[in-house]
Amino acid sequence: MSTDQAGAQGAASITPHQGKLGIMIPGMGAVATTLIAGVEAVRRGFAKPIGSMTQMGTIRLGKRTDDRTPLIKDFAPIAPLDDLVFTGWDIFGGNLYDAAKTAAVLDRDQLESMRPFLESIQPMPAAFEERYVKRLTAKNKKAGKNKCDLANQIRNDIAEFKTKTDRQVMIWCGSTEIYHEPKAVHQTLAAFEKGLVDDDPDIAPSMLYAWACLKEGIPFANGAPNLTVDIPALNELSRAMNAPICGKDFKTGQTFIKTVLAPAFKARQLGVSGWYSTNILGNRDGEVLDDPDNFKTKEVSKLGVLEHIFQPEKNPDLYGDIFHKVRINYYPPRGDNKEGWDNIDIFGWLGYPMQIKVDFLCRDSILAAPLALDLCLFMDLAARTPSLRGLGIQEWLSFYFKDPDSAPGVYPEHDLFIQSMKLKNTLRHIMGEDLITHLGLDYYGE
Ligand SMILES: NC(=O)c1ccc[n+]([C@@H]2O[C@H](COP(=O)([O-])OP(=O)(O)OC[C@H]3O[C@@H](n4cnc5c(N)ncnc54)[C@H](O)[C@@H]3O)[C@@H](O)[C@H]2O)c1
Repeated sequence: MSTDQAGAQGAASITPHQGKLGIMIPGMGAVATTLIAGVEAVRRGFAKPIGSMTQMGTIRLGKRTDDRTPLIKDFAPIAPLDDLVFTGWDIFGGNLYDAAKTAAVLDRDQLESMRPFLESIQPMPAAFEERYVKRLTAKNKKAGKNKCDLANQIRNDIAEFKTKTDRQVMIWCGSTEIYHEPKAVHQTLAAFEKGLVDDDPDIAPSMLYAWACLKEGIPFANGAPNLTVDIPALNELSRAMNAPICGKDFKTGQTFIKTVLAPAFKARQLGVSGWYSTNILGNRDGEVLDDPDNFKTKEVSKLGVLEHIFQPEKNPDLYGDIFHKVRINYYPPRGDNKEGWDNIDIFGWLGYPMQIKVDFLCRDSILAAPLALDLCLFMDLAARTPSLRGLGIQEWLSFYFKDPDSAPGVYPEHDLFIQSMKLKNTLRHIMGEDLITHLGLDYYGE
């Protein structure tokens, strides 16, 4: 079926969102607890879902003179928050109230008001390998004879959760694993499944969850920069099972701002000679990233964006010689309240230099939680949409990632505004509405 035909089928072809949507989260730390407590706070009317496009965003339909701008959640059949049910895995014992207290993102009073709800969720034992996250020691871990056994235990956990929910989505909110590149074991599904039995050291724990999830026909999203599903074997499985996958590493703080500023410089043909980005943060994520092998994974994800936005090979005079540096420093006093500085050396007319300084005093998990929510809801929508679910990679969700995924041979889009347009046009397309090109000539005809 062509994409035009798929769009013309419109909303009628999308399976309705009846029943409970189960959200499964490997890694129930700061982001996961802020997401879950936040959803509950919104459900009880204690707070607004600020930062979430699915909950607060609007979408223009038709011409500017039509005055049709519904909320996205009223336009597309997105699961309501009341239907969400949460479960997950973590290497730390205890319940989500304990985990949220440790994360220290939300106020004590706010947590107390949701205490019984948070105490009712207990992370399941995790599939964990210390080699991949060296700064943490597991207390709540699965034992198995090999990686295949561990992955099948995760499948059993999923099967059990399927008896309590009607549809499911998985989102990795676990720690960033060490940097590794695709090897032979990652190239085909057959090689990967043999590697599971052979206990191949290049199969990371996050890949066990992803394999189990896709094998069960469930969409998988990745909030961290780990390789995980970004390998041919799991791309193959995703397409075979109609289980969508997307990019990796939530685009929350510094990179979010970077992918707003860089397209602005490029649009005005302003040159850039240097971009120095540094951060201090003191949460557990910061502690994990203090290890050079784990930081390398994050560094690669954060560095890629300028290269793709500036296209130095096509614009050598403006961007052919940029010094781009990214640092993350573990600084415990700040906890989850990260501070990110950017010094940008730009140049203008006749090469005269200028500087821009950005100091973003942000809250890491407050920025990440709404993105995690949107990803879960949009991935569920993708799985119910015939023209999207068989594609594997959902490029329209690039908006949420530092490292968006795209088809082989197609460069990823990093510009936040292109990503936003792509997302909204995909919603218009699947709902059978006209795409918006912003051409606007028809306002000026006869
Ligand atoms: N907060 C942000 O703004 C942001 C932005 C981009 C990416 N991220 C990424 O999201 C992830 C989560 O961030 P966080 O601040 O919640 O970190 P966190 O350290 O608070 O939580 C991560 C949790 O994952 C658990 N974990 C590690 N390995 C696991 C495994 N194999 N199975 C199950 N659980 C496992 C840890 O025990 C920990 O509780 C990190 O990888 C981080 O880099 C966060």
